Amino acid sequence: MHTNIVTCTAPVNIAVIKYWGKKDEKLHIPLNSSLSASLDQKDLKTTTSVVAGTDFTEDELWLNGKKENVESKRIQNVLRLIREGSTVEWKDDPNYKLRIVSTNNFPTAAGLASSASGYCCLVYALAQLYGCRSDLSAIARLGSGSACRSMYGGWVAWEMGRDHESSVAVQVADEKHWPEVQILVCVVSDVQKHTSSSDGMQQSVRTSKLLADRAENIVPKRMEEMKQAILTRDFHTFADLTMKDSDSFHACCADTQPPIYYMNNVSHHIVSLVQSYNKKVGSNKVAYTYDAGPNAVLYIADEKHMVEMLKLLHIYFNPSEGVQRERPFFDNEYLLA
Ligand code: PMV
Repeated sequence: MHTNIVTCTAPVNIAVIKYWGKKDEKLHIPLNSSLSASLDQKDLKTTTSVVAGTDFTEDELWLNGKKENVESKRIQNVLRLIREGSTVEWKDDPNYKLRIVSTNNFPTAAGLASSASGYCCLVYALAQLYGCRSDLSAIARLGSGSACRSMYGGWVAWEMGRDHESSVAVQVADEKHWPEVQILVCVVSDVQKHTSSSDGMQQSVRTSKLLADRAENIVPKRMEEMKQAILTRDFHTFADLTMKDSDSFHACCADTQPPIYYMNNVSHHIVSLVQSYNKKVGSNKVAYTYDAGPNAVLYIADEKHMVEMLKLLHIYFNPSEGVQRERPFFDNEYLLA
C-alpha cells in the first residue's frame, strides 16, 4: 500500500549578508543573522517527490539519479522532527518505508546553494506527506542552515535566534517588492567544491579572529542597513553592502588556518569588471557576491544594466577566447554605447 505521492519545488537563495559559522553545531544556530533573495523558480530550483509505502523494503533517497545515504545525520534529524509534528496515524509504523527522489536543474554542490533548495524542498514535501504543522524553516535549518531562507520567496532574513524555536527565517519583503532587480548567475566552474561549507565553517570558527569580529561587530549593523536599503529600494546602498559582505566573508575564509580560497582568477576578474563598471556609470548598478565556490552571482539594478553587463561578460569572458586578462576593462567606449 502507498500514500499519495507529494511533489514540491523550492528555489535557490543567494545571500547578500552571508551566514558563516555556527554557535551550536548540533542545532545549526549561526554566529550571525543573514539575508538573501530567493530566485525565481523558473530558473534554479530543486524538485522533490516523496511517497511512503508498505511494499518498499527500506527508505531510499535518490539525488539527481544517484542513490544517496538516507541514514545521514541531517536527513535523520529532519525526519525525526517531521514525525514529531505529524498528524498521520502511520507516522511511527515501521512497515511504512520512504522513497525520496530529488533533482536539481543546476550543478550540485558547486557553491550554487543546492543544499538550500534541496533541504527546503525535502522538508516541505515531507511535511505535506506527514501532515506536519511545525515551523518548517526551523526544520529545514537542521538540514542545511541556509535552507531555512528558501522557505519564503522574495527577500528573506534568517534571524539567528538563541535556540531551535527562535532561529528561523522571516520574509523582509515579498517577490513583488522590487521587480526591477535582476539576478545573473555566472557559472565559472561546475566542479564540486574542495571544502564543504560545514567543514569550512568549523575551521573558520576555530581559527579566524576576523570571523568573530565580523559576527559580533559588523554584521548586526549591516543587517539593519541592508533591510533598510531593500525596503526603500536604494540599489546603490544595497550593492555597496552586498559587495562588502561578500568580501568580508571571503576575507574570513582567507584568515582561516589553513586558508580556504573559494574564488578563483576568473571570479576576481569579474569583481574588477563590476568595480570598473560601477565607476564608469557613476553609481552602483551591479553588485557581485560569491558563496563557497568560484561562481559569481550578480545583482543588477534593472534590465538596461543587465543587457550591458551581459555584453561585457560576453566580450571579456568569452570561453572560446579565454579571459582577456591583458585588456583593461572599458578601453573601448563603444561597449557602453
Ligand atoms: O547552508 P550551508 O551550510 O550550505 O551554508 C551556506 C553558506 C553560504 O552559502 C556561503 C552563505 C549563505 O548564507 O548562504
